[in-house]
Amino acid sequence: MEHLSGRVAVITGGASGIGLALARTLAAEGMHLVLADIEESALAHAVDELRASGAEASGVRTDVSNSASVEALAEEAYARHGAVHLLCNNAGVFAGGLCWEASEADYRWVLGVNLWGVIHGIRAFVPRMIAQGQEGHVLNVASMAGLTATTLAGVYNMSKHAVVGLSECLFHDLALNAPQIGVSLVCPEMIRTGIGASARNRPEELSGDGDVPSSKSRRFVEDIICKAAENGLDPSVIAARSLAAIRERRFYVLAEDGWLDAAHSRIADIQAGRNPVLVVPGG
Ligand SMILES: NC(=O)c1ccc[n+]([C@@H]2O[C@H](COP(=O)([O-])OP(=O)(O)OC[C@H]3O[C@@H](n4cnc5c(N)ncnc54)[C@H](O)[C@@H]3O)[C@@H](O)[C@H]2O)c1
Repeated sequence: MEHLSGRVAVITGGASGIGLALARTLAAEGMHLVLADIEESALAHAVDELRASGAEASGVRTDVSNSASVEALAEEAYARHGAVHLLCNNAGVFAGGLCWEASEADYRWVLGVNLWGVIHGIRAFVPRMIAQGQEGHVLNVASMAGLTATTLAGVYNMSKHAVVGLSECLFHDLALNAPQIGVSLVCPEMIRTGIGASARNRPEELSGDGDVPSSKSRRFVEDIICKAAENGLDPSVIAARSLAAIRERRFYVLAEDGWLDAAHSRIADIQAGRNPVLVVPGG
């Protein structure tokens, strides 16, 4: 989608990190923004910042794991702007640990936001975008974790693998049925964001006694994620890569460091029919 100025973008998880960087970058292109986030104060702050820079921006408190909430977001975006040209399914959270130590609530929370958030976004917006009959684009933020497999992060990796598969299928569905709408799949490496503090938005009903297991392996990997996120790339790098992909209608937006080697190694294992080799990017 070459022409962006005056067109409308909806960004989930737009109050922080990669979502906020996307909002700043798209605002600089003259897009009108609807930010959706569960964290109300951060959302208000982000909208104020964007408006102060001259952008047309609004915020809708949204829980992407809830279909009614995402449907209400779509209704509000269409009521306000009459059209949506770019949907960024970006909201996401991290929980770590061994696959069998993670609680059912861990799985439900991470899948609810990372996978169901994307599903609800596609189901609420894509039919409306098709009906609107104009050029459009869907940008799904997965992760290099969705193209690789590692230890201590099964819950997160699995959720991102599902987003990769869903996005590839969406690409084919749209190419065959509504080719005016493009798709990009963003797979970032370690980025400096709030992801290490994801639990700030964990809902009460998934945070009860025993829902958040404490184990050595969990503390170990969540500590690594916090430190990596602190030292990671600036999120504006991902926003710039995403912008180029939207313009070029390019699907894969991949990391440029050792994560790509890990993804290639996984494919080589599959091609050779051998057991998975553990590759730890940067490790
Ligand atoms: N930071 C990284 O290293 C990294 C790497 C690869 C992929 N990603 C992905 O990037 C995306 C953005 O994360 P980030 O790193 O910017 O983290 P972040 O914590 O800075 O931003 C995530 C945003 O999502 C919001 N959010 C959380 N739960 C929500 C819900 N139920 N409904 C609506 N909004 C919700 C948060 O409030 C926050 O504003 C995520 O999908 C994440 O998995 C991040």
